Amino acid sequence: MELRVTNTPRLEWTGDALAVGLFEDQVELTDDLAALDEKLSGTLKELITETEFKGKEGSSAATRVGGGSGIRKIILVGLGKPDGLKLETLRRAGAASAKAAKKEKCKTLGISLPLWNGDAAATAQAIAEGVELALYQDTRFKSDPEEKQGPKVEQVELLGLGGQEAAITRARQICSGVILARELVAAPANIVTPVTLAETASAIAQEYGLELEILEREDCEKLGMGAYLGVAQASDLPPKFIHLTYKPEGTPRRKLAIIGKGLTFDSGGLNIKVSGSGIEMMKTDMGGAGATLGAAKAIAQLKPDVEVHFISAATENMISGHAMHPGDILTASNGKTIEINNTDAEGRLTLADALVFAEKLGVDAIVDLATLTGACVIALGDNIAGLWSPSDEIADQLLKASELAGEKLWRMPMEETYFEGMKSVVADMKNTGPRPGGAITAALFLKQFVKETPWAHLDIAGPVWVDKENGYNNPGATGFGVRTLVSWVLS
Ligand code: BES
Ligand code: MN
Ligand code: ZN
Repeated sequence: MELRVTNTPRLEWTGDALAVGLFEDQVELTDDLAALDEKLSGTLKELITETEFKGKEGSSAATRVGGGSGIRKIILVGLGKPDGLKLETLRRAGAASAKAAKKEKCKTLGISLPLWNGDAAATAQAIAEGVELALYQDTRFKSDPEEKQGPKVEQVELLGLGGQEAAITRARQICSGVILARELVAAPANIVTPVTLAETASAIAQEYGLELEILEREDCEKLGMGAYLGVAQASDLPPKFIHLTYKPEGTPRRKLAIIGKGLTFDSGGLNIKVSGSGIEMMKTDMGGAGATLGAAKAIAQLKPDVEVHFISAATENMISGHAMHPGDILTASNGKTIEINNTDAEGRLTLADALVFAEKLGVDAIVDLATLTGACVIALGDNIAGLWSPSDEIADQLLKASELAGEKLWRMPMEETYFEGMKSVVADMKNTGPRPGGAITAALFLKQFVKETPWAHLDIAGPVWVDKENGYNNPGATGFGVRTLVSWVLS
């Protein structure tokens, strides 16, 4: 699909479908919309009346335009109230326009939406992201070529945004990262394994010239990564500790580390997941790693003046005669000992050694992303990720980045007194606390492996996947986290 910007006024644009954004108080047509309606012989007004279109955010309507006009279909997209227009509203409006054009079998689409905050670049980027992500459909595992192809929107023009080519390029680079994350997360555990994750990292390194280091089991043993290796020991597949580095030309403005939980499958281990626990969805337990590699792909193209380390301690949590036993005591690479009272709390064990590794790189800040707890999904639902950080500065940076990126984060408490529940009689700590506050104790566990580097933890167990179509997310993996990470690194 080709994405272009133009200054052609919407009255003069010609093509298959013209999508026009309307605010809630705009359904009484004024100015050039009245002129457009006249040009379309009253079709606009009819469409508004017939569909009782009120301009509500997320609503849309489409109809055929009579012959003799330069366009075939007109699409209305609701924008809600004009004050407090959000970038995310435009992203979703771009998605709604693209989806409607696709449904109406239109090959060319013109989109006319208002500016956000007087910022043409941010506006163009957001709309382009919405279009691109909405039109992405994962047919890799379908055998039917009909389903693979379908009717395609071939050309999209953003009206009134002439000159914003760079913003479109940026959007496409970011979306290539989001789509990589979606593809990694959606692929099953027999396709995406620790080995293929490492291969994906290697492909990114080769394509964009990043540095790549893969630590094999023996390398991790030498570094004393007993927590990570304890999780990895039941798998027939080798663990792969992935460390990909983007270095800008010249002196970096800052140095950051991004860590993603990379469990390519989580059976629970000997504390096996019971039926009904969604074990068949545990292919998504590398959502953090997917976002990390997706962000790497985007950042490698965007080339900011920031050094970024992308890390994932990838493995599977399996069952075999080699499996760690409940009650085992593991020693992490910072020397801390952990009593395993639940083998299903494995993500935090892999992250523990990854956090110690990241801090040794001497970075200015560390962010980890993990499909860490079902408790976080219970607390915040499917569309919001939890954010924990002892640092107000990093927390605020991430909240701001996520707002612009249209990915919802909610800051959660780092309630130190709850660490009481993680005390072990025999070791420094247990790996799980009591059920209440399970997402908080998980964050407190991670905190034991960070000494002084400003750090934040994102629990993305909910938003990595959607069952129903929602805006620019089609059913399946969302690629959650990539846009926030990119926006944070660039900030
Ligand atoms: N990968 C799961 C968390 C998860 C659950 C992600 C549901 C997505 C959807 C994690 O490894 C896990 O099993 N967590 C346990 C922790 C418990 C044993 C303390 C959980 O949430 O039940
Ligand atoms: Mn688990
Ligand atoms: Zn897990």
